[in-house]
Amino acid sequence: MTEQAATGTVTITLDGTNKSTTIKLIDGTIGPSVADIRKLYSDLGIFTYDPGYGGTAACDSKITYIDGDEGILLHRGYPIEQLAEQSTFLEVAHLLLNGELPNAAEKKEFEDGVMRHTMVHEQIRSMYQGFRRDAHPMAVMCGVVGALSAFYHDSLDITNPDHRRISAFRLIAKVPTIAAWAYKYSIGQPFMYPRNDLGYAENFLYMMNAVPAEPYHVNPILARAMDRIMILHADHEQNASTSTVRLSGSTGANPFACIAAGIASLWGPAHGGANEAVLKMLAEIGTVENVKPFLDQVKDKNSHSRLMGFGHRVYKNFDPRAKIMAATCHEVLGELGIKNDPMLDLAIELERIALSDDYFIARKLYPNVDFYSGIILKAMGIPTSMFTVLFAVARTVGWISQWKEMIEDPSQRIGRPRQVYTGAPQRDFVPLDKRG
Ligand code: ACO
Repeated sequence: MTEQAATGTVTITLDGTNKSTTIKLIDGTIGPSVADIRKLYSDLGIFTYDPGYGGTAACDSKITYIDGDEGILLHRGYPIEQLAEQSTFLEVAHLLLNGELPNAAEKKEFEDGVMRHTMVHEQIRSMYQGFRRDAHPMAVMCGVVGALSAFYHDSLDITNPDHRRISAFRLIAKVPTIAAWAYKYSIGQPFMYPRNDLGYAENFLYMMNAVPAEPYHVNPILARAMDRIMILHADHEQNASTSTVRLSGSTGANPFACIAAGIASLWGPAHGGANEAVLKMLAEIGTVENVKPFLDQVKDKNSHSRLMGFGHRVYKNFDPRAKIMAATCHEVLGELGIKNDPMLDLAIELERIALSDDYFIARKLYPNVDFYSGIILKAMGIPTSMFTVLFAVARTVGWISQWKEMIEDPSQRIGRPRQVYTGAPQRDFVPLDKRG
């Protein structure tokens, strides 16, 4: 780990003993200092307790910075707004993976490097036949991405930088193909092979929508919108799925297995599954008149329901991605000639009412990236079950960048949290005939 200069120390004394320890504070480039508690157990014999890791930095990273109070998201220092407006997904991928925006030659080399790997081993096609047609495409993603390590043995040595580079290219390039095929399989259409002459997002839309029987032209405005949606989902610091990838990778597992673990973690409705859940929720609410009763239900702790697409562990202000997503939503609907989208109207009204409601104000609950993404994706003809898949396609770039950073950190150790044990104390085995 690169340790920054300590700005100070904290001394902890264990009450009732003469034991104490001095905890060093480590400064990042920006953001709060962190207390280095690694000697706490050896000095005091105690662990820290932080379920959900709300106050724990598990690694140091140079990739992404979030200021949740101010609603700021930076990738390698660049604000997300500028990247979404001026960059492309593959350029952002280069930035996340390699630390800098590419120059013209590097950009071409990187794009060619990724796009050269878009095809998957032909035997992977037959894996799809093993899934039910009505399988959720995220289930297919978990299986097929995990299986990549069975096909690409020549890039599995994680200690070899060239293997790491090729694995990163393979993952970024093949995940859209695997995703589009999961969709094609579910609707019984022929798989479309990737086209390397197209842009990254353009090729994904092509594989999703084209059929071999006729030519298909991807609308450039929709391709640009998809590219931007991918930029917005590319990385987000140490969230649940990224932490899953890092934890899996800390054991030395190969990158394909680690990304499959990340996909599984992303699937949950509290994380990447929220975009799908937002649309289901809007469909359930149905009309503007039902917004208030729905919010009353959400506020009732016994209902266990939540306003999907609202709230975030880190953002206690607007998620900057949600603002860009809302603007993109209007652009896409405009391009598609959708003047009045009842779902968008409902979402806008739901957002307006929630943002003026004391419950949401007091808890600092704002729309997150998922609130508007589903509406755009639906308008673009992407089926609801593919929303989280699309998130996984884009986030693969962040996952593999974070994995690479971890593997290249000489101080990296296996991730191994501790616990507060609250079970039975030690006791003797009871033979079957003596149990009540
Ligand atoms: N609707 C209603 N109440 C909420 C919501 C919500 N969406 N989110 C949080 N709250 C309430 C909680 O009930 C809690 O209230 P309390 O203090 O009275 O008990 C308080 O706000 C704090 O909530 P926590 O659950 O402690 O917040 P946490 O940081 O653990 O959860 C999460 C963050 C999971 C994102 C949560 O806000 C949520 O479930 N949101 C809906 C799902 C969603 O949109 N997920 C996408 C996240 S972004 C992403 O992954 C891309």
